[in-house]
Amino acid sequence: MPDIEVVTVGELLGVVEPLDLGSRLESAVLLQQFIGGTEVNVALTLARLGHRVGWAGAVGDDPFGRLGIRTLRGEGVDVSRVVVNGSAPTGVYFKEVLALGGLDNHPYRAGSAASLATHHDFDTDYLLSGRVLHLSGITALISTAGHECVTYLADQARRRGVHLSVDVNVRRRLLRDRDAGELLAPLVRAADTLFLSRSEAVLLLSTEEPTRLQALLRSLAATTILVHDQRGACAITEQRIDRIDARAVDVVDPTGAGDALVAGYLSGWLEDASVADCLQRAEHCAAHAVTSRGDNAVGVTRILRHISCDGEVDAR
Ligand SMILES: Nc1ncnc2c1ncn2[C@@H]1O[C@H](COP(=O)(O)OP(=O)(O)O)[C@@H](O)[C@H]1O
Ligand SMILES: [Mg+2]
Repeated sequence: MPDIEVVTVGELLGVVEPLDLGSRLESAVLLQQFIGGTEVNVALTLARLGHRVGWAGAVGDDPFGRLGIRTLRGEGVDVSRVVVNGSAPTGVYFKEVLALGGLDNHPYRAGSAASLATHHDFDTDYLLSGRVLHLSGITALISTAGHECVTYLADQARRRGVHLSVDVNVRRRLLRDRDAGELLAPLVRAADTLFLSRSEAVLLLSTEEPTRLQALLRSLAATTILVHDQRGACAITEQRIDRIDARAVDVVDPTGAGDALVAGYLSGWLEDASVADCLQRAEHCAAHAVTSRGDNAVGVTRILRHISCDGEVDAR
């Protein structure tokens, strides 16, 4: 793929859920499958927006690995550096979108091919060949190998001047009783653009308050902190603080909202859009993610690249 813009690396997951939204797995007869994993979701949304994006990761030599590679390739994501491990499985999670709102996830990812991969398994030059390397804290939490991998890549991105995008994405289930601050410090300290939910900001930076986060920029490598929750998002740079409200939508499945937000924001960044415009794309993609089934923003299309400031699509 010529002039790749973004490369992302992480764990691809098979996802299985009841076909009838709102029914419980133990009573469901018909199930549907698709793929997920935060970096996969980011890659898919960026590709749908028309960007040149590569995803790398280790999958098993099994149906979910093959489904993942085929899906990503079919959506235009470069999968030329995916590693297939013949002796460990692709991680899977079973998902229940609850009838009264919320989710119940049942992961089977311990010992997965992805959790065993170190940076030695990947082509580092390829991973650092884009304008942006996007990593998530999930990889740092899944295993010692994952932690080593993203720590090494974050360091290499800084050394080589590749823009490092980090979504900290703390998952309590993966964190267990370990110290999030210590485990994620190599990513938080190295990121150029840092994405956190408000609760993650409190956990890792001791505040979610935009002006206090703005003051922290002096002690971080980051030029931008993007802090978000269900109600909206806020982009913080040394010069300014921009906010956007989430729109009122009928939520179908909130999975992947943050991933879509990241992809939309990076899409704007890649095109030198203003921070306000980046935020608008971010919110638009996130709205698509929560209003569609599956873990990523299925309805996002390239036309969103021409969204104008008042939220109207400019189809010229
Ligand atoms: N219930 C919702 N209604 C409308 N937009 C939402 C909703 N939940 C999330 N979003 C959109 O997705 C963005 C990210 O959501 P958030 O819940 O913070 O992400 P995460 O997936 O990381 O938990 C929000 O800022 C908003 O734009
Ligand atoms: Mg998130």
